[in-house]
Amino acid sequence: MDTQPTILVIDDEPDNFDVVETLLDGENYQLHYAPSGQQALSRLDNFQPDLILLDVMMPDLDGMEVCQRIKSQPQWQGVPIIMVTALTAKEDLAKCLATGADDFISKPVNGVELRARVHSMLRIKHQYDSLQLLLKLREDMVNMIVHDLRNPLASIVLGAEILKFPGLSQKQQQGKVEQILLAGQQLQSLIDSLLLMAKLESGKMVLNYSPVDLHSLCKSALADVEAIAAQKKITFISELPEPGGTIEIDVLMFRRVLDNLFTNAIKFSPSNSQVILRAEYLPAGGAKLQVIDSGKGVSEELRKIIFEKYEVGTRMPEVSQIGLGLAFCKMAVEAHCGTITIENNQSKGSIFTVTI
Ligand SMILES: Nc1ncnc2c1ncn2[C@@H]1O[C@H](COP(=O)(O)OP(=O)(O)OP(=O)(O)O)[C@@H](O)[C@H]1O
Ligand SMILES: [Mg+2]
Repeated sequence: MDTQPTILVIDDEPDNFDVVETLLDGENYQLHYAPSGQQALSRLDNFQPDLILLDVMMPDLDGMEVCQRIKSQPQWQGVPIIMVTALTAKEDLAKCLATGADDFISKPVNGVELRARVHSMLRIKHQYDSLQLLLKLREDMVNMIVHDLRNPLASIVLGAEILKFPGLSQKQQQGKVEQILLAGQQLQSLIDSLLLMAKLESGKMVLNYSPVDLHSLCKSALADVEAIAAQKKITFISELPEPGGTIEIDVLMFRRVLDNLFTNAIKFSPSNSQVILRAEYLPAGGAKLQVIDSGKGVSEELRKIIFEKYEVGTRMPEVSQIGLGLAFCKMAVEAHCGTITIENNQSKGSIFTVTI
C-alpha cells in the first residue's frame, strides 16, 4: 500500500462527502468522491482505492447492490468496504454484511468512530497487500528454483544418454562423467542451501561450534574454488594470520559462507582480475574476514537489499543468479552473533566484511 492510502467515498449527497473530508482532515489520506454507484464502478481502476465508504440509500443502484458488484470482481475483493447507513435494524445490518461489506458505521457519522473504523480496515488492507506480495514472491521464487534445477538435471540426463553410445573413447567417457558429477554437485549444493536456510529461518538450527584455525580454514576454502577461479584466470591473494590461532565457529556453515562470497567474487568479476581474502583475529576475541574484488561492484540501491532472499542485481547472461547466497551468509553469520556488510571497493568492485 502507498504511504498515503486512498479512500473512495460513494454517496449521492455531496454534503456527506464534505463531512467525511472534514472528519478525516489531517489523517494523510487521499480522498476521492463518486456521486453514484454506477460512476464508482466504472472508475475503480482510476481511483485504485484501499478502502471504500459506501452510502446504503442511493437512488438507482443502492449501496448493497454496489457492494455486491464490487466484491464480485476478484481484483477488488481485498478492498474493505464500510457501509455508511442510517438503518439500525439488525436485519438490515446483517444484510449489509451478507452482500460482502466488511464493516458499517451509522449516520450521522461520528468522527472518533469513523477514524477508528477507517484505521482498522486499512490495517486489514495492509495485511492483505503484504500477503499478496509474499505470495507473488513465493511464486517467482518457485519458478526460479525450478528453472535452476532444470539446467543441471538436463545436463545429467544428456550426459548419461551420450554415455550409452558404444564406441566412446575413454577420454570422452571421462568428460561426460565429469559433466554429470559437476551438475549433480550443483543440484546438491542448491538443495542443501535451501534446506539449511529453511532450518536457520525456523530457528531450529543448532550450531555445531568447534575450535578451528583461521589460517587453515581459509586455505581449504580457497582450495575449493581454485578450479573455477582458474577457468576465469582470477587470482586469489590471501592475507592471513599465522597458523596456530583458533576461533570457535560452526565450521561447515562458515565454510559455506566463504564459499558463497568467493563464488560471487568470481561470478561478478571480469577475467584476469584479482580477489583478496583478508582475515585477522580481533584483539577482543573473534575474527574479521574480508573478500575484496575488483568486479562490477554493487549499486547503492542493491546494497540496501542485497542480503535479502532472491534479490539479484542486473541479470548477467550465462551466470546463475538465484539470490540465495548472501541471504544464507547473513543468516549463518547472524546465527554466530556476527555481522556481514558490503561496501564499495575504491573505484570499482565490492568489499564484503564478516565479523564474528
Ligand atoms: N561480489 C559481487 N560483485 C557484484 N555483484 C554482486 C557480488 N556479489 C553479489 N552480487 C550481486 O548480488 C546478487 C545476489 O547475490 P547472492 O549471492 O545472494 O545470489 P546469486 O549469486 O545471484 O545466486 P546464488 O543463490 O547462487 O548465490 C547477485 O545476483 C549479484 O547481482
Ligand atoms: Mg551468490
